[in-house]
Amino acid sequence: MTDLKIAVIGAGVIGRTHIDALRKATGLSLAAIVDPSPAGQDLAELYQVRYFADVAALLTARVVDAAIIASPNDTHVPIATELLGAGKPILLEKPVANTLGDAAALAGAVARADVPVLVGHHRRHNPLIKAAKQAISDGAVGPLVMATVTCAMLKPMDYFDVAWRQDPNQGGPLLINAIHDIDLLRHFFGEIYSVQGASSNATRGLAVEDTAAAILTFEDSGIATLALSDAATGPWAWELSSGENPGRFPKHDAVTHLYAGRDGGLSLPDLSLWSHKAGGNWVHELDRSTLKFSALDTYAEQLAHFGTVIRGEAAPLVTCDDGIRNMMVVAAIKASAQQGKSIRIAEICEQSSG
Ligand SMILES: NC(=O)c1ccc[n+]([C@@H]2O[C@H](COP(=O)([O-])OP(=O)(O)OC[C@H]3O[C@@H](n4cnc5c(N)ncnc54)[C@H](O)[C@@H]3O)[C@@H](O)[C@H]2O)c1
Repeated sequence: MTDLKIAVIGAGVIGRTHIDALRKATGLSLAAIVDPSPAGQDLAELYQVRYFADVAALLTARVVDAAIIASPNDTHVPIATELLGAGKPILLEKPVANTLGDAAALAGAVARADVPVLVGHHRRHNPLIKAAKQAISDGAVGPLVMATVTCAMLKPMDYFDVAWRQDPNQGGPLLINAIHDIDLLRHFFGEIYSVQGASSNATRGLAVEDTAAAILTFEDSGIATLALSDAATGPWAWELSSGENPGRFPKHDAVTHLYAGRDGGLSLPDLSLWSHKAGGNWVHELDRSTLKFSALDTYAEQLAHFGTVIRGEAAPLVTCDDGIRNMMVVAAIKASAQQGKSIRIAEICEQSSG
């Protein structure tokens, strides 16, 4: 089997994670880097792969089978549209678009092209998330009733030297970090019906929010809370507790996701399963066990899945539609915070299509 030749478009923080994964992968190899910055060109020279300043030049050269788009949010839709038009499968980083209007245009391009799109909500490829999903699907906690999810971390001020990260339309912990938690909540509970949100930029004083919270009500059943800040100290964030990206973040012994069902509770990332003996209730001690899983590099797993998607052997685990729905939930939380009232996801959907 010949290696699939992959381009990485945008060789910044996450682009380099994809490049590292590609350099270790079997069946896929890094063939090109596309990035207008001199650093991108240096990286292409370092790894001795083709360098292009833009996607048009990449496509003219016909040197890749597929591409990973890891450039800033406002470039996602034009770059994705260009690649899909050329029939190239893509792994598109989240958020899939800069605005919901752009996201709708992307959905049209995806439908017209009939080329697979995998969205970079990488956590779903983590074996620990797969173990949690399997346990929930197998009824280990019964029907889900509630969840609480935290995302607290202290980003340094120079993180915001990159202009897009302090733009309220492109940056902020809701779009950058918590959108992955929203994806997991949708993965476990199903679609979200409405949200009540609050947000603040008071701690850091930038235009973009640094802190937010939301109450999420699910279509089928269940209610969850989400609390996040990138200007507060604590280990209670997936990034800092899951060990998913050891090259970037230390791993702490902290629990960030609590899922309670009618018959049991499950915490993540420690995968503790809590349940009563038959007939038990709150006055009885709960039994605790730990779900088993084999730790694997999440980004490598995502890449291996992308390989099967490119070869037509699997459908994308995280679709463009998932990426757009996650964006809608973020938009609903922001609208709710601004308007001081609960917002239905359907309202956001109607506004973006009308
Ligand atoms: N899934 C994840 O774990 C994860 C983590 C971080 C970032 N992201 C997402 O990945 C994207 C990039 O984030 P980042 O933190 O790596 O950003 P970054 O600013 O560190 O890197 C972006 C890179 O894209 C390059 N670039 C700019 N315009 C370009 C263009 N038109 N074509 C090609 N390259 C271009 C820049 O020169 C830079 O090297 C964002 O959409 C972000 O939300 C995802």
